[in-house]
Amino acid sequence: MKFIDWLDERLAIRQLMKVMLLEYYVPKNINFLWSFGVLIMLVLIILIVSGIFLLMYYKPDANLAFDSVNKTIMMDVEFGWLFRHVHAVGASIMFLVLFIHMGRGIYYGSFKPPRELVWLTGYFLFILMAATAFTGYLLPWGQMSYWAAQTITTLFEKIPVIGPDLVIWIRGNYIVADATLTRFFALHVVFLPLLLIFVTVVHLYAVRIVGSNNEDGIEIPKEEKKKKGIPFWPVFMSKEFFVMSVFLIFFFWLVFYKFDFAMDPINFTPANYLQTPPHIYPEWYFLAFYEVLRGFFFSQNLGLIAFVLSMLLPMFLPWIDKSPIKSGNHRPLFKIAFWIFVLDFIFLTVLGKLPPTGLYGWLGFVGSLVFFAFFIALPIISRIERKELERGGNKQ
Ligand code: HEM
Repeated sequence: MKFIDWLDERLAIRQLMKVMLLEYYVPKNINFLWSFGVLIMLVLIILIVSGIFLLMYYKPDANLAFDSVNKTIMMDVEFGWLFRHVHAVGASIMFLVLFIHMGRGIYYGSFKPPRELVWLTGYFLFILMAATAFTGYLLPWGQMSYWAAQTITTLFEKIPVIGPDLVIWIRGNYIVADATLTRFFALHVVFLPLLLIFVTVVHLYAVRIVGSNNEDGIEIPKEEKKKKGIPFWPVFMSKEFFVMSVFLIFFFWLVFYKFDFAMDPINFTPANYLQTPPHIYPEWYFLAFYEVLRGFFFSQNLGLIAFVLSMLLPMFLPWIDKSPIKSGNHRPLFKIAFWIFVLDFIFLTVLGKLPPTGLYGWLGFVGSLVFFAFFIALPIISRIERKELERGGNKQ
């Protein structure tokens, strides 16, 4: 292969392949949950490609945006509807896959040393993805797009001293308006995707340096990695291709038959700044955090602090849970706390769509307390485990 030799001389691609794929060993004791990182990359590519096609017809102008999506793309352009459904379903599925990827990381203690930077770069990716979804949701300029943006930007008003000016600066107007749409457009299609791609590269680099964790959470020494692992390419990737194929069947089933789950019916009405919808709620993936915001219904300020904390606390997990035992498989107390946390997250997600009045208001409050209880329980569980280990328990 003359061309490969030519490239190799200039870019050392054989060495690169060796370091990144052929001599990179993945532990044998991992399960299908370790495929979710690659699934996220697949969905990211799907979102970027479908987004580029949508961009060819979308008009970032408050007078034209709604029709450019609901008429031009959905009705006039051939297969425009397909790209829109792929993009909308892709955004929803991205968060499902992300939550599972993060849940796997929490359960198996993949945020613990030496993977703190893998966790931090990953968490930054989650925040970036949330910002990308939020800015993208305004673009169709429907009623829910408009009022979700109006509600969330209003939250910044509560920041002491600079709050009221900051909101006007973010919106570029006193209310969400054309200026908001164009700046959200710029963030959604250029700035955030570029940053996402860059941070993804750093995240993967960090994973490559420290290697993957495993179901038992026991680190494999460098010299035993070859013996106790399988080469990333082609052995591990062959499994990944299988998982990707099953995932794509599920994904396109959603795109063709269940696409409406990713589209709010209220958003098929054009944005109207004079008419507030009876209930304003975000897409399903933000509902749990939104419910924490509303959970403290007796104090808006407390709700806002709780909301910011709920978004940021998981980032500090490497310093909150310092138990030397990594995997949840070997941590009975942690296992209980983890599953209560997962159930509570689902509970908050369900409540987030219901009106926050009467019993629902109180349930939201209790659900929010349980959310924070997890982060209070972790240092206590860690201490108990540490003491057990000191007493000579052979847990890991
Ligand atoms: C654009 C978003 C992301 C992409 C493309 C991505 C990609 C990947 C890939 C390919 C891997 C290696 C395979 C695997 O273990 O699944 C990985 C591992 C990991 N990721 Fe992500 N990830 C993203 C977001 C996140 C987020 C939001 C978190 C958590 C806050 C996170 C935390 C981790 C951790 C801890 C590992 C190491 C897991 C282990 O070895 O057990 N990632 N990621």
